[in-house]
Amino acid sequence: MSKKYAAITGVQGALPSYVLTNSELETMVDTNDEWITSRTGIQERRILKETDKAASDLAAEAVEKLLAKTGTPKDEIELVIVATVTGDQVFPDTANITCDKVGIKNAFGFDINAACSGFLFALTTGAQYIETGRLKKVIVVGVDIMSSIIDYSDRATCIIFGDGCGAVLLEASTDYGVIDSVFKGDGSGREFLHMKAGGSLKPTSQESLDNREHFVYQEGRTVFKSAVKGMVSTVQAVMKRNNLSADDVTWVVPHQANIRIIQSVADMMDFPMERVMLNIAKYGNTTAATLPLCLWDYESKLKKGDNVILTAFGGGFTWGATYIKWGYGAAE
Ligand code: COA
Repeated sequence: MSKKYAAITGVQGALPSYVLTNSELETMVDTNDEWITSRTGIQERRILKETDKAASDLAAEAVEKLLAKTGTPKDEIELVIVATVTGDQVFPDTANITCDKVGIKNAFGFDINAACSGFLFALTTGAQYIETGRLKKVIVVGVDIMSSIIDYSDRATCIIFGDGCGAVLLEASTDYGVIDSVFKGDGSGREFLHMKAGGSLKPTSQESLDNREHFVYQEGRTVFKSAVKGMVSTVQAVMKRNNLSADDVTWVVPHQANIRIIQSVADMMDFPMERVMLNIAKYGNTTAATLPLCLWDYESKLKKGDNVILTAFGGGFTWGATYIKWGYGAAE
């Protein structure tokens, strides 16, 4: 029996309509467009303004459109995995809420919390259900409403993050799909990127609210250096294990955290920037959503058989790289 791979057979994004520009941020904190653009590459990001909407609403929109564009009946979906650190509520999981909103009745669902690496970890988890033959159709979503945990008086973080969602459909293939992944974690990195309160370590209290401890805390320089090192080492490892040279890689899809991080990774790996997917200027860092949003934005350029390397680094620390052989689009 030939090996089964889990191929991505469709990709879809969903974004809030409100655009938060660098010039609007200039009116909120002591910053300027030149600093933000040159230090991060970000020009604008999307923000979910509707107070009655949450992560599951963007996820439901992406999943509904994904089902429509791939012609997939709702009742054929057997599993929905949602990668997020900003789910609707601490519990229940956002995957189940998403299924309810879409009307998916035959699936089970769960969330994966691995910050910016969440989509990669969820993709490989979903892929394994397909590879073993246990399931036939799995949806993997990356969604984050970072505006719900950002302090808009902290110029070091509020300029970076945005809200967004991307979703992919996985189905079995004998030739295309998720080929291999190298994933790593280092919990000692948690001190450099975290939210101080709201969990079992420090439940919400008047003191935690007064101390503004329910927002992203980040030591940017340490995260920056660790991100470059982590992404390069795992990309190298997955390429080596699969005998790929830089010339063999059609597209690199890096987590969109900072244009300078992406450029450093590309330089160190000898990848020309023309083959590196970029959308950070439009959306900023949408945490678990950056990778599927890149695939969505570049979908028309992807061709059957392309070698695609995705890589991410995020809070935890968590990081890794995944090698995919792309499964659709006109071959050259
Ligand atoms: N506007 C203007 N000045 C700012 C600023 C802003 N928005 N934010 C910080 N600064 C200032 C700092 O106060 C500091 O001033 P000082 O030298 O007088 O103390 C100076 O700019 C440099 O700060 P620093 O933090 O060293 O800047 P940086 O070049 O490292 O850039 C980040 C900051 C956050 C953009 C960068 O470190 C980064 O992108 N890190 C990784 C973030 C990330 O990807 N996180 C998500 C998980 S992957």
